Parts: sequence; structure tokens; C-alpha cells
Amino acid sequence: GAIFHLVDDPAVVGTEAAAAYFPDGLLVLENGHVLACGARADLEPTLPKGTYIVDHSGSLIIPGFIDTHIHFPQLDMIASFGEQLLDWLERYTFPEEAKFKDPAHAEECADFFLDELLRNGTTSALVYGTVHKESADALFKAAFDRGMRIVAGKALMDRNVPEAVRDTAESGDRDSRELIEKWHGKGRLGYAVTPRFAPACSDDQMTRAGKLLAEIPDLLMHTHMSENTGEIDWVKELYPDAKDYLDVYAKFGLLTDRSVFAHCIHLGDDEFQRMAKNGAAISYCPTSNLFLGSGLFDLKKAEAHGVKVGMGTDVGAGTSFSLLQTLNEAYKVCHLKGHKLDPYKSFYLATLGGARALNMGDKVGSFEAGKEADFLVLDLAATPLLKRRLENCTSIDETLFVLSMLGDDRVICHTYIAGACRYSKP
Ligand code: GUN
Ligand code: FE
Repeated sequence: GAIFHLVDDPAVVGTEAAAAYFPDGLLVLENGHVLACGARADLEPTLPKGTYIVDHSGSLIIPGFIDTHIHFPQLDMIASFGEQLLDWLERYTFPEEAKFKDPAHAEECADFFLDELLRNGTTSALVYGTVHKESADALFKAAFDRGMRIVAGKALMDRNVPEAVRDTAESGDRDSRELIEKWHGKGRLGYAVTPRFAPACSDDQMTRAGKLLAEIPDLLMHTHMSENTGEIDWVKELYPDAKDYLDVYAKFGLLTDRSVFAHCIHLGDDEFQRMAKNGAAISYCPTSNLFLGSGLFDLKKAEAHGVKVGMGTDVGAGTSFSLLQTLNEAYKVCHLKGHKLDPYKSFYLATLGGARALNMGDKVGSFEAGKEADFLVLDLAATPLLKRRLENCTSIDETLFVLSMLGDDRVICHTYIAGACRYSKP
């Protein structure tokens, strides 16, 4: 079939110059890894006799999508009406998350959640659990069973939240360490220290989070920042001496090149600059930012400052598991900011850019030899309208753009994890 990816070359990241398109391509795999990717005419003669070939002609093969911010326990309250962030958390989110104390509930949701990621072509994700260690434990187990590259953590939240979803600085630290011991580095799994957001974490909890992050070299840090103006005012009240929102995290040692901050809609230039200087990443979550009325993220500005960016669905504030739908909304948000988000950039953000934001760019996100073979087979005739519109596309960038506007879970024909097909459209 046809193959498209954005090559992993820092000199040309996410631009047309990084695009590799093979209208009649071959992706050669061995032991779940990419051995080669290129034109079939070049590669076929080099294959050992007896190599098993799967024909996907008529389809488009791309790297698996990477979701850099999603909440697995918010599955059952996605599309909850009417509120902005802080009221939405109180009214819908915390009561829903309280249910995850029950391991049986957590297990059932984890299975559904990961199958839904696969059905939408998402092969890797950075995932929030609830405050309960049972939630993260269930997710890790389900991800291990599926062979997915997943980074997750139990949420740290020891103040300003209902008791049913509150831990203590001490228990949060202990539970995080227990989960790290059990899951971090097991198979393709990784742990993220996950303070919910500054207003929900005491100084003691934040201090311990910073210590834990410093102690174990390849942990990620995952949190929310500068999403909603009410939230930002609250942080100012809680930390009158901090220079700005980012400074609060920085003071506790949470601003690092392993840190991923969701949203970052209302950052000032100085905050962007310090994000870049410290190698921290932003998860851009357009469906969530529009749904909660949070604001319009300035992608151009983040890029101008040299900050790493990946795409996040932020389900259940986000309204779709589909990274294609997320790119659709991203394009519109950029338009309102006066920029044109081109399809090379947008597919970069949903694949290799996301991988880099999660410090896994050397393992997934594109088809260089040696990378893990997480990839998608896209059905270019998934709906009558998509088929009709794609038939009159004359270039790969036009095809990708139309896919990102009209596509969703219906275009995901197969999802491969480390060379094994883990989902096929019925
Ligand atoms: N800030 C703190 N918690 C949350 C959450 O669950 N979702 C979003 N979108 N923002 C948050
Ligand atoms: Fe979120």
C-alpha cells in the first residue's frame, strides 16, 4: 500500500521537507520493529525468500497516533453539559472519578478505554488515572496485555477536592512509588508523576513530587497548566509570591525536560521562553479547550519559542478519542489565531511530535529502521463522501488534509502494535 511518515530529522521537523511518501511502498518488519521503509520496487528484491507479505493496496499506512494527554476515568462523563473547568470538575468529574476506588470498575473501564484508543488508531498515550492507585494499576495491566507503549500515573490531589478523591502528601508519595516499582519500565510501560494541578496539591505534595521526579531518571511529569482564567486567578491567590503559574511548578522542581503540561493557553512570553529553555513539552488539546470554553492555544507562538508540542484529546473534557478529529479542531483554532496549520505539521504533531513530547521519539512516531512498529492502515473509502473527495485529491498533502477534516474512527482499518494487528475494523 501507500506509506506516509515524517522522517525523524531535527533539521526539518514537521515540515514538507521531512515528508516521506511512497505511493507503492513497503514497510519491512522484524520482531515487532521496523527494518526498512521505502518504495516497494527498491525493497522487494532485498527480502529474504519466504518473507510474509501483507498487501494493503488502496490503503494508506501511517505511524500510530500518539495522544499526549487523556484521562481514562473520564470515559463515562465525556460530553457533560454546560460548565467551564472549575465547575465541570466539581459537578461532573470528581463524582465520576470517585468510582475508581473499586478495582472491578477500574478494570472494566481500562479495558474499554484501551480498546477505544486502538479503535481510533492511538497506539501510545500519556494517561491520567484517578487519585486511587487501583485505577493506574488496572490501566497498566490492561496496557501490558495489549503490548501498548503507555505512560500513566495516579493523580496526586491532597487539597481543595472532595474527600472521596483526596489523598495525602504521604499516601500519594507511597502509592506512586509502589506503582513505579510494579510497572515502570515493565514491557513498554512508563510512569508519570501526576500532580492534578497546582490548586489541588499542597506544598508538601508538590515537594515530594519534585523529589520523586529527580530521583528516578526516566519518569515523566504530567500535569495541567494555564487552561482557564478562573483557574489562573486561583493559582495567583494561592501563590501570591510566584512570578506566574509556571513558576509554581518550577519552584518545586517540576519544570524539566521530562515534564508535559496540558493546555498552556494563557502563557506569557516569559513562560513560553522558560518552557523552551528547560525542554518541557505542551499538550495541545483543541477539542477540550473549545468544549470547556477555555480559550484558543497559540501554536505559532509556542513553536516560535521552540517549545515541544504534541496533540492531546483530553477526554473527557475533550470530545473525541480520534486524533483526526482533534487535528480538525486544531486547524480551526489556528485559523482563529490567524495561522494556517498545514497537514505536514498536523500529522507531525499527532505522531512524531507527540512521541518527542513524551521523550519516546527514539522509539515510535515514524518508520526509521529500529523503531517499534506501531502503525495504522487507513481506509480511504471509509465513507461515501470521504471516498468521493479523496478521489479528486492530487497530492499527498491534500489527501492528508481531507483525512484530517473528514476522517475519524471510521478510517482506521487496522491498528498494529509492535508489528501485531491488535484491531481490525469489523
Ligand atoms: N485541571 C485539573 N483537572 C483537570 C481535568 O480533569 N481536566 C481538565 N481539562 N483540566 C483539569
Ligand atoms: Fe486534562
